[in-house]
Amino acid sequence: MAILDILRYPDKRLRTVAKQVDTVDETIKALVEDMFETMYEAPGIGLAATQVDFHQQIIVIDVSEEKDQPLCLINPEILEEEGTESCDEGCLSVPDIYETVERAEKVIVRALDQNGDEYTLQADGLLAVCIQHEMDHLKGRLFIDYLSPLKFQRVKKRLLKQQREDQRQLVM
Ligand code: NI
Repeated sequence: MAILDILRYPDKRLRTVAKQVDTVDETIKALVEDMFETMYEAPGIGLAATQVDFHQQIIVIDVSEEKDQPLCLINPEILEEEGTESCDEGCLSVPDIYETVERAEKVIVRALDQNGDEYTLQADGLLAVCIQHEMDHLKGRLFIDYLSPLKFQRVKKRLLKQQREDQRQLVM
């Protein structure tokens, strides 16, 4: 297992549209293991393959308090969605930014697990939000794309300032 590097906004690779996984083979299984390890270490509650510069449709999630309910979604597809819900979201690729995004309140999603077996999941609350957030990553979309232009400018300024400070730290 290995900790993978997480791409940070505004890295253009985050805009890549992920391809479907053909076969859940040993390479994919190993990547899923690495993605779980990377997500738990970050720590985060979800991670999409796009964020670790691997452009196939793979997501790992664990929204449980105890971090003992790993969920893997390969080639996820939303079958049904219902209602709307606003939630404060953050993202490992957009550090220290938290903004409110409106999503569907409930979703029914079909996916393959890390063994390549198909399953259907009904999700609401944080899990539903997380699934939609991660599925956006696979389409090259980030949660800050939903902000109003004014809010987006504010966020961008903060991110640029952060990056300048990070660079200063490297100079020593
Ligand atoms: Ni994210």
